[in-house]
Amino acid sequence: MQTKQYITTPIYYVNDRPHIGHVYTTTICDVWARFMRLAGDDVFFLTGTDEHGQKVEQSAEARGVTPQALADENSAEFRRIMGMFHLTNDEFIRTTDPRHEQQVQALVKRLMDSGDVYLGTFEGWYDAGQEEYYTETKARDVEYRSPISGKPLERATEENYYFKLSAYQQRLETMFSEHPDIVRPEARRNEVLGRLREGLQDVPISRTNFAWGIGVPESPEHVIYVWIDALFNYITALGIGDPSSQWNAERSGYWPASMQVIGKEILWFHAVIWPALLMALELPLPGCVYAHSFWISEGQKMSKSLGNFIDLEQLQDYMELYGSDALRYFLATQGPLGATDSDFSRSQFHETYTTDLVNTLGNCASRTSAMIGKYCEGVCPADTGECEGGGVEWDAFVAEQVESSVAAMERFDLAGSIAAAMAIVRRVDAFINDTAPFKLAKDPDAAAIVGDILYRCAEAIRIAVCLLEAVMPSRMEELRTAWNLGEATGDLRAECVWGLLKPGTTIDKVALFPRVDAEAASA
Ligand code: MSP
Repeated sequence: MQTKQYITTPIYYVNDRPHIGHVYTTTICDVWARFMRLAGDDVFFLTGTDEHGQKVEQSAEARGVTPQALADENSAEFRRIMGMFHLTNDEFIRTTDPRHEQQVQALVKRLMDSGDVYLGTFEGWYDAGQEEYYTETKARDVEYRSPISGKPLERATEENYYFKLSAYQQRLETMFSEHPDIVRPEARRNEVLGRLREGLQDVPISRTNFAWGIGVPESPEHVIYVWIDALFNYITALGIGDPSSQWNAERSGYWPASMQVIGKEILWFHAVIWPALLMALELPLPGCVYAHSFWISEGQKMSKSLGNFIDLEQLQDYMELYGSDALRYFLATQGPLGATDSDFSRSQFHETYTTDLVNTLGNCASRTSAMIGKYCEGVCPADTGECEGGGVEWDAFVAEQVESSVAAMERFDLAGSIAAAMAIVRRVDAFINDTAPFKLAKDPDAAAIVGDILYRCAEAIRIAVCLLEAVMPSRMEELRTAWNLGEATGDLRAECVWGLLKPGTTIDKVALFPRVDAEAASA
């Protein structure tokens, strides 16, 4: 039986233009999804768009179009980027899809029937831009102004449907103590725990001041709060709200999600409200909610007022100049997966590309294939064992890196996983320098030794390629083709065992990562 893996991104608001943040989260999920598929797992990868709510209604009004027309247009734009960045999501969910809407109503009905959702009156501090209510403490902390827009919070009273979040205080605390890894990284979990200890209040889950949303069952003047509607996407995409559906039959087995990746600004919804909703629905909890930090741009926070968002056009420029794999590599290795923000700067991008991809991986593969061309007629030599390891027990060293690369990816440490693969490549580079096959080749008696060295180089690179395929699918495929390695087998660990490269295989020369002129790059 294949292990089922389910990975999700947040669903993106259709009232914004896609930018690096959206591309980043979706790309890192894509790297993980591809890796797990290569490892033989049965992966379902979900992304999509969040299309309801007051902001969408207002933007549509301002543009003189219907909210649905606005949602259609912008959702299509998000969908287009999935193709542009080679993202392999298995489904693209839209919250205006009738299948989602019907299930959200069914799920809310279940919560009403169980008493987890009730009608009540609410008064609180409302951030109109974020469509979010703050507790008194939080409102005081932010000096009664939206931390996002800076506008004053409004005092608002509403008759609303509520979710009985307070009833889940104890169970949530138990969840965190029994499954501390449910929220990562640790710094983010600690933030949630701190706020959780202040005590939970029930949360309103409906609005009556606008219409663009899903109606509360039997009370259509109440529109389901966009966040509740949105969170449910993770299970409606699997048909969980409609047990008799085709979706349910095919997909419900993917729940619980293995990995739910979000940005840190939406942690509370995913780390507290979401698990409580699942508890109320008696559904299992996800394995991990991973909240990454933010990209900033050339040292500055990206904001509308500064107009410094790294947008799709800029990302496209990077792709044209450096290739899409280079962009994926940069996002995956230099991105803000940890607790601190990362800077997206042109110089850093160029430097990473040149050091890791041109000078290390590209150079190593091209040197190895060029020498096999020159000294072995372009055919993979055999390892006769005549050459001593040059200080390296290749099979043991490589096995260790493979284990470490797989284990890192399993815990969503993308940079760690890639670093282990790159350690293999760096070792090859050092091995070539230490053993100098290009010098030995001048001595006809050393032919066997040269063959041994080159076999080990090619074999180590082959294994690194298997590990790097998820992050750089195009270039690694190019190498597979040039070296006649065949397609990935879907059993990554088995494929990474030392010695599988067959002597006699035709090894063509490769030039994977062309040097990019720094000046052209900054122009
Ligand atoms: N619609 C909600 C999410 C609902 S999920 C049930 C939403 N959408 S959003 O369009 O604003 O997208 C937010 C997500 O975009 C963040 O959580 C993060 O994944 C990504 N990013 C937005 N800006 C970002 C950066 N500057 N850096 C990295 N990623 C960030 O919130």
